[in-house]
Amino acid sequence: MNINYCMPTRVLMGDDCLSGNRGLLKDLGKKALLVTGSHSAKQNGALGDLVKTLEANGQAYYLFDKVMSNPTVDCVFEAAGLCGQEGCDFLVAIGGGSPMDAAKVAAALAVNPIAKLAIFSTTFTSALPIVAIPTTAGTGSEVTPNAILTNDAAQTKTSVASPALFPRFAFLDATYMSSLPQVITINTAIDALSHSVEGMLAVRASVISDPLAKASIRAIAECFESIAGNKPGKAVREKLLWASTLGGMVIANTGTTAVHALGYQLTYHKHIDHGRANGLLLGAYLRFVAEKEKAQGTNRIGEILAALDLGSLEDFSACLDRLLGPREKVDAAALEGYAEKAFQAKNIANALIKPEKADLLAVLQQSIG
Ligand SMILES: [Fe+2]
Repeated sequence: MNINYCMPTRVLMGDDCLSGNRGLLKDLGKKALLVTGSHSAKQNGALGDLVKTLEANGQAYYLFDKVMSNPTVDCVFEAAGLCGQEGCDFLVAIGGGSPMDAAKVAAALAVNPIAKLAIFSTTFTSALPIVAIPTTAGTGSEVTPNAILTNDAAQTKTSVASPALFPRFAFLDATYMSSLPQVITINTAIDALSHSVEGMLAVRASVISDPLAKASIRAIAECFESIAGNKPGKAVREKLLWASTLGGMVIANTGTTAVHALGYQLTYHKHIDHGRANGLLLGAYLRFVAEKEKAQGTNRIGEILAALDLGSLEDFSACLDRLLGPREKVDAAALEGYAEKAFQAKNIANALIKPEKADLLAVLQQSIG
């Protein structure tokens, strides 16, 4: 048995865990670049708490609040340039996956100046320290060495991955999620679920990642009823938060597979939210895997269903349909292009049961055809 498991991020969870552990930030330097989007971190209280914490530490900061959904290469280079101009020693990302991913790449670029064209072919070996404060419960980026950027040259989203991108600290405070809109709660929960499910269907799944994945799947499934009814209280918010971090710990080691490869196409070309895109595809992809497993006598799908506490994939699809509502429809010619592009993604080689291009097309057709 060969295992290579790494989780260098220190995770702190609880109300006011940031201010309660402010000494950890103090050791990171004199000035921070705060990386976030334009609105939510200001509204949910996370940015205010961070600023107060830095001021209490006597640390300076510069605010970069221009990260958009699905961050671009230009955006991360702008953030990295500010790091240099402002003399920042570390970066603090606040938000969902987009600000965290942007901050991670900017932290690497700040100490490894490269040309924009080289961004997806460079393996970074160093980065400024990164602190992650997630304000959604889905991406798991607070504990992964990956950052996903919009790749216009390849017309998809592409991962920049390096152990140097693991955040130093992740502060998980569910109070920042108390007023998240239902659609974001659902889409991010499905993204986290997809991470753990795909992690169980990845070549690098292991006896360490599987228990994390199953605990994450079980916890998210226990929240389905609450989030479908739009009444997630504090306990549900906390459960979704640690479950999504577990999902991040899974994919930090297993990577994602075909659902994410296909989902990136729906996000790039149709602007479908990342978590929703995965949710649209999950049911059909699991049916494809289940068919193949029948022939080879394995039962990973059975293990996933047990963690979901569901009897069949039909039950799982019904849960997803309830959460997702009416599905988008995409014309057949476009789907062929998406299957072709997804088939070239490195996530496909990471799948335990490797789909052919025709299998990917069938998943797309069943999901949004
Ligand atoms: Fe994801």
